[in-house]
Amino acid sequence: MSQHRPAAVVVLAAGEGTRMKSATPKVLHPIGGRSLLGHSIAAARTLDPEHLVVVVRHERDRVAAHVAAVDPGALVADQDEVKGTGRAVECGLEVLPADLAGTVVVTYGDVPLLDGATLADLVARHTASGAAASVLTAHVADPTGYGRVLRDASGAVTGIVEHKDADDAQRAVSEINSGIYAFDAAVLRSALARVGTDNAQGEKYLTDVLAVARADGLGVAAVTTDDVWQVEGVNDRVQLAALGRELNRRVVEAWMRAGVTVVDPATTWLDVTVTLEPDVTLLPGTMLHGTTQVRRDAVVGPETSLTDCVVAEGASVVRAHAVGSRIGAGATVGPYASLRAGTDLGASGRIGTFVETKKAVIGTGSKVPHLSYVGDATIGEGSNIGAATVFVNYDGVAKHPTTVGDHVRVGSDSMLVAPLTIGDGAYTAAGSVITSDVPPGAMAVARGKQRNVEGWVERRRPGTAAAKAAARAHAAQESGEAPGPAGTQEGTPR
Ligand code: UD1
Ligand code: CA
Repeated sequence: MSQHRPAAVVVLAAGEGTRMKSATPKVLHPIGGRSLLGHSIAAARTLDPEHLVVVVRHERDRVAAHVAAVDPGALVADQDEVKGTGRAVECGLEVLPADLAGTVVVTYGDVPLLDGATLADLVARHTASGAAASVLTAHVADPTGYGRVLRDASGAVTGIVEHKDADDAQRAVSEINSGIYAFDAAVLRSALARVGTDNAQGEKYLTDVLAVARADGLGVAAVTTDDVWQVEGVNDRVQLAALGRELNRRVVEAWMRAGVTVVDPATTWLDVTVTLEPDVTLLPGTMLHGTTQVRRDAVVGPETSLTDCVVAEGASVVRAHAVGSRIGAGATVGPYASLRAGTDLGASGRIGTFVETKKAVIGTGSKVPHLSYVGDATIGEGSNIGAATVFVNYDGVAKHPTTVGDHVRVGSDSMLVAPLTIGDGAYTAAGSVITSDVPPGAMAVARGKQRNVEGWVERRRPGTAAAKAAARAHAAQESGEAPGPAGTQEGTPR
């Protein structure tokens, strides 16, 4: 590859993208977890060019800031008010050394499925052929709107004509210009200086460089790809979705070939930045975003979305929404759990149903099985947080931490009012509002003592079904029969 290392890649991203009808510049819209421009830059980087330039104009500051964020080594060039792809490349070359020699690759910021392998193939064939300019082309069913590739009787490329400038015979050509090229740097510069704006759109067309080079007696080549998706650009949100789905199909297929079971590829969405291990199983409706990693034998889904999470070996995550969280080996999450940033569930731990966690470090084997909020918490190993416990971390002004030791049993419906420490092996009684630290091994009880007002219902609610039921129970007690109503006995929830 290094023998074909291009001198520069110029990524064109100055266009307006009006058909997106968006306040966000087109090239910043994402698919597969990356902006359209981010995909173009990533593909360009695989060529290891000496220089990478992104040409900007529309929403210049936002696009330039994005370039700096995704690729700090990239240069940004400003296109002036002269319109057209040719002018854009000229402006790109202006930020590069005047004596730049070698190959200059031109790509677009709105062609997200173009991959590094296709670019590398274009550069390799360009170099091997000795051509001054090589254009990536494709045969498409409907070439409307594209520039058409013109060839002479021998099949040699003679130029490109834009749809708007083409006659009927030229419009019948199905081989289109992808807009992706490899040029000899000196030829590109010299030819662009001679390209005018005398065409249907009054723009300086990059495509005209091919005819200029040919008129100079230089070689012009075409490299045709069968993978039409790779050269397809995004112009509107319908194409954004179509290319997003195709990108996802490719990403999911690659993971399946690498040993991941995906039960329903159509409803499984994976960012290009996600990493998975063999024998992971993804159930329908799984969305994995950002830097999420899922390790061997873990099962994710159905209906789960994870952003910037790590799911360790053998863990299971069911109907959950998690951001910035770690889920330990063999741990289980859900169904119906919300894990916010800073959740770190230890090995074999559990975050169960209707549980929300945030900045919560939960130790090995510890469990928060039902209906709880755990925020700003550190829980040791082997502890159990009873149903409907709330870590009361917010006093209305500031957030405070709670520390729970090892092998603690927090009773159901406990309010743990932070700042608070519960020592190893301690218990809290169900329904307690715990406001003071609990020493190791203590049982903390903080609730009103129960008082039964005997006969209250029959006196104060006479004639009701409740009073009648109570009367029957009393009668049965007096006659020495077993108490209790007819019908089933209710179990105790666990
Ligand atoms: C261009 C090609 C056409 C090709 C098609 C492939 C020319 C004259 N035509 O047409 O042959 O079939 O792409 O999609 O090159 N851009 C700038 N500055 C500009 C104009 C455009 O940076 O002044 C950028 C856009 O942001 C975009 C790319 O260049 O990324 C293509 O621009 P677009 O207007 O879509 O070109 P087409 O008319 O589609
Ligand atoms: Ca276009």
